[in-house]
Amino acid sequence: MVKDDIMIRTAKREDASRILRIQEEVVAEGDFLTTVSEEFNKTVEQQGDWIEKILQNDKETLLVAEIQNEIVGWIVFLSPGRSRLSHTGSLGMMVRKDFRNRGIGKLLLQRILEWAELNPCIEKVSLGVFSTNKRAIALYKGMGFIEEGRKIKEFKINDNEYIDDILMYKFV
Ligand SMILES: CC(C)(COP(=O)(O)OP(=O)(O)OC[C@H]1O[C@@H](n2cnc3c(N)ncnc32)[C@H](O)[C@@H]1OP(=O)(O)O)[C@@H](O)C(=O)NCCC(=O)NCCS
Repeated sequence: MVKDDIMIRTAKREDASRILRIQEEVVAEGDFLTTVSEEFNKTVEQQGDWIEKILQNDKETLLVAEIQNEIVGWIVFLSPGRSRLSHTGSLGMMVRKDFRNRGIGKLLLQRILEWAELNPCIEKVSLGVFSTNKRAIALYKGMGFIEEGRKIKEFKINDNEYIDDILMYKFV
């Protein structure tokens, strides 16, 4: 259950270090993302530039979830930036480990879908998710996302372990 004091708002440049810390933590968990820790070396400055670029693009947005002034999760919608794909975009999201399964992800997803519905350019919201990521898949399906395909053995975890990339979409 979501706490009453949770706030969802648009991110700002000053959030860069806190957003980056969550990203580093989730990368370090090693279970849900393509990028592994050795490949992840973003600076706060770079993260700040990334946030500003998103804020300047009316087809993109980045929202954060705050509890008592602490950022506990975030969600981003990124546009491919080409005319024939300009009605689409992809989602990425993460919630701090200690705050998962309390409905924060659902709230972030609801808010970004509301934003997408109000955006006259956006028609299709897409995402890719590890086939092993049961919590994320449950969340996406619960919010009306449909599987449109699967990249088989897209991720190689070790010599004999692979994970499919499940591609999902929702029209808004
Ligand atoms: C995926 C993530 C963003 C979801 O955020 P969250 O705040 O935990 O999500 P919520 O609590 O709103 O919803 C989780 C849902 O998954 C369900 N769930 C939890 N564990 C599950 C499991 N093992 N199998 C199936 N469903 C599960 C919950 O019951 C809940 O569904 P409900 O609302 O119908 O009860 C978060 O878990 C996370 O940051 N994970 C690591 C990063 C990541 O995987 N990002 C997405 C990459 S595609």
